[in-house]
Amino acid sequence: MSAIRVVPTTPFDDQKPGTSGLRKKVTTIRRPHYLENFVQAIFDAVPGRQGATLVLGGDGRFHNTGAIQTILRMAAANGIARVLVGRDGLLSTPGASCVIREHKAWGGIILSASHNPGGPDGDFGIKFNPANGGPAPERITDAIYARTREIGEYCILDTPEVDLSALGTHHVDDMVVEVIDPVADYAALMERLFDFDAIRALFRGGFRMCFDAMHAVTGPYATEILERRLGAPAGTVINGVPLDDFGGGHPDPNLVHAHDLVAALFGDDAPDMGAASDGDGDRNMILGRRFYVTPSDSLAVLTLNATQAPGYARGVAGVARSMPTSRAVDRVAAQLGIDCYETPTGWKFFGTLLDAGKATLCGEESFGTGSDHVREKDGLWAVLFWLNLVAVTGRSVEDLVRDMWRQVGRIYYTRHDYEGIETPRAERLMADLRACLPDLFGTTQGGRLVMLADDFGYTDPVDGSTAGKQGVRVLFEDGSRIVYRLSGTGTEGATLRVYIERPEDDPARQDVDTQAALADLIATADALAGIQAHTGRSGPTVIT
Ligand code: G6P
Ligand code: ZN
Repeated sequence: MSAIRVVPTTPFDDQKPGTSGLRKKVTTIRRPHYLENFVQAIFDAVPGRQGATLVLGGDGRFHNTGAIQTILRMAAANGIARVLVGRDGLLSTPGASCVIREHKAWGGIILSASHNPGGPDGDFGIKFNPANGGPAPERITDAIYARTREIGEYCILDTPEVDLSALGTHHVDDMVVEVIDPVADYAALMERLFDFDAIRALFRGGFRMCFDAMHAVTGPYATEILERRLGAPAGTVINGVPLDDFGGGHPDPNLVHAHDLVAALFGDDAPDMGAASDGDGDRNMILGRRFYVTPSDSLAVLTLNATQAPGYARGVAGVARSMPTSRAVDRVAAQLGIDCYETPTGWKFFGTLLDAGKATLCGEESFGTGSDHVREKDGLWAVLFWLNLVAVTGRSVEDLVRDMWRQVGRIYYTRHDYEGIETPRAERLMADLRACLPDLFGTTQGGRLVMLADDFGYTDPVDGSTAGKQGVRVLFEDGSRIVYRLSGTGTEGATLRVYIERPEDDPARQDVDTQAALADLIATADALAGIQAHTGRSGPTVIT
């Protein structure tokens, strides 16, 4: 056993985990002791690490492997017995969740800043997922944060680097390091959930799809599953090689950032289906030929048709969506006679519902969809689910959405983001809005009667934990809704998100351009919150 080096350190005051772990600039993470303090805080705050198995990997962004080498030396010094690390340091977020569960690990450390840009000047992130494979609940992140505030030393070894490119068993002193194929466990799970024979037949019949991996972690996963196992033609996966700066792009699967994909699906000779995933593989965007599926509609379609996939053939126990996600799935749930839960933004709030078997499927407007197969949202899973539905129903992506609209109505939905606002201005906007909530009920705004105006609060139906101030929502008599909240994932300034929706039950009026269909509500949203006045902006920076 090498001598453990106990390094004296002092706390950093900015290590509070956000919506999805600690997100910082690479330059911050690489400050002396910065990463080490946070990792030691995880080891100190979460009981049971001695002799345990840890899962470790990341989305391949700049500094991924450097950080992994540090964490391996710290894990060995802190009594971890075995680490499962993805080859080349790669593990998607859902892939890591799967490995944690399959191998009954103590937990996993996932290095990712999700969809945020990478590279030396980009973002980095680190999050801890406990034994259920899901994002750490607040009591764990609070304990980690508390530990970062008082930390005085961390433990590390001075051992050589592990060759992360070589599959198989390595050692860091007494600790075993297994370099694993990041795709193997995950692909096996997908084969159990979906009808691979039907999807293979679909591709054999000439069905064409384009999957944009955005030079991020899903490249190897999608190439193995779509092209090798399902027989999609080579070239189905584009931007499939992970790069540490994502090729200079912004690995976020939406209409703005997935431009190669959008060009393909809205151009001449468009394939039948398009899809993209984000930096760490947990988000997804689904496109039909010249047709965009909102994440909220995607959840509703998957719920409505779930029994067509072998993994869900026995039905869906319940569904859950985050509060700002459209209420399309509520309508589907009502039709199916199952429960629908409304949670705050953040995948971690689904964990208790999934563990308790109350929800089988979950989704968020922020391009997240998933189920109880792992405890993270899962981009490729959603893509395979859609492929499965297209293969067994013979309906196109667009048909499946329109069928759902016909049955339960269409909910026109848009999100307007105002990025990079100075934080005090954004906070003032929210404070002013909150202050006027008590007077809004019963007033008419933009011609609509306000039926409810509140700041969303949540009590977890399983463990009774509570979360307050999760976003302002204004509901109108005609079923329309406006939601305002500040993003919890940014690293610079503040981002105001405004979510606007209106139901349309008349099939004859379900084919209007979304921004036009919502124009008057968009104006009401601005007027109610004084967005232009507070931010000095004449319009949003991103519309999805
Ligand atoms: C991450 C979480 C999601 C959440 C999203 C919200 O991606 O994993 O569960 O919906 O952040 O981000 P925001 O920037 O709106 O706080
Ligand atoms: Zn992500």
